[in-house]
Amino acid sequence: MWLYTVAVLALASLSSACTPSVTAVSGTHAPASFCAGDLIFSDDFNEFDLEKWQHENTLAGGGNWEFQYYNNNRTNSFTNNGLLYIRPSLTEDQFGSAFMTSGRLNIEGGAPADRCTNPQWWGCERTGSPTNILNPIKSARLRTVDSFSFRYGTVEVRAKMPAGDWLWPAIWLMPAFNVYGTWPASGEIDLVESRGNRNMLFNGVHIGTQETGSTLHYGPYPDLNGWERAHWLRRNTAGYDSQFHRYQVIWTPDLIRFSIDDVELGRVMPGNGGFWDFGGFNSNPNIENPWRFGSKMAPFDQKFYIIMNVAVGGTNGFFPDGVTNPTPKPWLNGSPTAATDFWNGRTNWLPTWRLDQNDGQDASLQVDYVRVWAI
Ligand SMILES: *[C@@H]1O[C@H](CO)[C@@H](O)[C@H](O)[C@H]1NC(C)=O
Repeated sequence: MWLYTVAVLALASLSSACTPSVTAVSGTHAPASFCAGDLIFSDDFNEFDLEKWQHENTLAGGGNWEFQYYNNNRTNSFTNNGLLYIRPSLTEDQFGSAFMTSGRLNIEGGAPADRCTNPQWWGCERTGSPTNILNPIKSARLRTVDSFSFRYGTVEVRAKMPAGDWLWPAIWLMPAFNVYGTWPASGEIDLVESRGNRNMLFNGVHIGTQETGSTLHYGPYPDLNGWERAHWLRRNTAGYDSQFHRYQVIWTPDLIRFSIDDVELGRVMPGNGGFWDFGGFNSNPNIENPWRFGSKMAPFDQKFYIIMNVAVGGTNGFFPDGVTNPTPKPWLNGSPTAATDFWNGRTNWLPTWRLDQNDGQDASLQVDYVRVWAI
């Protein structure tokens, strides 16, 4: 009887403790049931769990003609002592220098885990030439696209940014199902992005390792993207490469709020006109609002998955042409031979990556944990 009573009381307190959650989840590692406040996805990187983290395998360059080849290789991604490392290396080390300017690289593999993950922008096969060399850097981009996606929640990633000229680390979320159409109509949530240059100024401001940014991308089509109204920067003179920080986002049916180490960076709380009004798209009556049947948070009212990567360079202006760096930027963003120009400047940037010291830790994005809670 006593046991029975205890059991009933325990059950009663359990059920009363469960506040129903507005969070929704999908994926092989999504919990079947949970309450508000529960941890619903986490990785402490005590092992490298590729059931959670799928590697991208592509030459596509992220839509910005970035210079890396994302691959599944323990030179470029691994866990050690409870940390995940994403570490760039030279493509030439694997294929030799002659191959860079003349080889045909086809990365489509036969095994399910070896398939090319992005054929866009010549992403599965490229042929090198002296003016257009093959992607000169190998790196990694990991994603939870099959294992876990979620709508609304709290995310915290404890990470240390890499240092090294022209490195572009990112921890971000992309829409799992593109419910409002292709990018940027279904949104993009960039928790943290930074630049690896230790001493880079633009208009007198340090935009290298001393700066990080958080951004939302959203708009009816690529040329109409309201990111500038949802973009925040933070500075730290010690450099985000010198210590681990906790990068956080709280995402609810009312707001998206970015923080670092519990200090708010910025937030969006759209009114009833939603992101259409917030982005200023309502001024043009000829454009149809893809979110008109969604909630005021649309496109941020659908499920997103997590991505972590180290990109390099690119021609979209993330690395502006006019920067002041100890050694000049080796490519122009308008150059049709940008990757080759970048590679030809390697005597300047490669030493800054310090790949030969300490297992290349300086140039690595290091992640201690990823945690997501229901709200
Ligand atoms: C992994 O990368 C290293 C360094 O580039 C290379 O030597 C090795 O061949 C690669 N492994 C595979 C299986 O491609």
